[in-house]
Amino acid sequence: MAFTIAIDGPAAAGKGTISKAVAAHFGFAHLDTGLLYRAVGAKTLAGVEAIAAAKALVAEDLEAEDLRTPEVAQAASKVAVIPEVRSALVDFQKAFARRAGGAVLDGRDIGTVICPDAEAKLFVTASAEVRAERRFKELQGKGGDQGYEEVLADVKERDKRDRERATAPLKPAADAVQIDTSEMSIEAAVQAAIAAIEARRG
Ligand code: C5P
Repeated sequence: MAFTIAIDGPAAAGKGTISKAVAAHFGFAHLDTGLLYRAVGAKTLAGVEAIAAAKALVAEDLEAEDLRTPEVAQAASKVAVIPEVRSALVDFQKAFARRAGGAVLDGRDIGTVICPDAEAKLFVTASAEVRAERRFKELQGKGGDQGYEEVLADVKERDKRDRERATAPLKPAADAVQIDTSEMSIEAAVQAAIAAIEARRG
């Protein structure tokens, strides 16, 4: 049986952690759709044209190293503005969403564009400062050299681009349950997400 859980929200709000935990809890497959845009962004940094890169994307590209760097994140949000890049990635995401056994997809437009009929939709947010603090610590843990202020500016720039683009902008679906994780522990946020999904499962 197919059951789709759509989890959207801005950068570093906790979507990734929540999505992995929710997928493990329900025994569903998980797709981090940001990786698709990061893989295309990384190709443009290597000189490939964005639309051609999106059309030629294969599953192995999602396993490329260094997709988690701030440079690739910025490149991803730039290619994500291009309608032809987005449309080239739609079929893969939709097929993943309807796979038998259930699926969790996290991104920016899953509940609004990719899976408007998803059985459960969450919109995970947190203040820009809290998100930048989390991302700063994560990058520091990996030996990154960005300061907090730089990470905050990066997060705000990417949010603005994601929210203001004409095609599939970042916004909550009308029927999404919103979870603000600013003052929540990871455990509490995961529990809130699971409770919201259980309520939709009936
Ligand atoms: O979620 P993540 O930070 O990996 O996403 C990188 C970028 O990819 C985002 O800033 C956004 O511009 C883009 N993206 C998107 N739609 C999605 C997932 C990611 O536009 N469903």
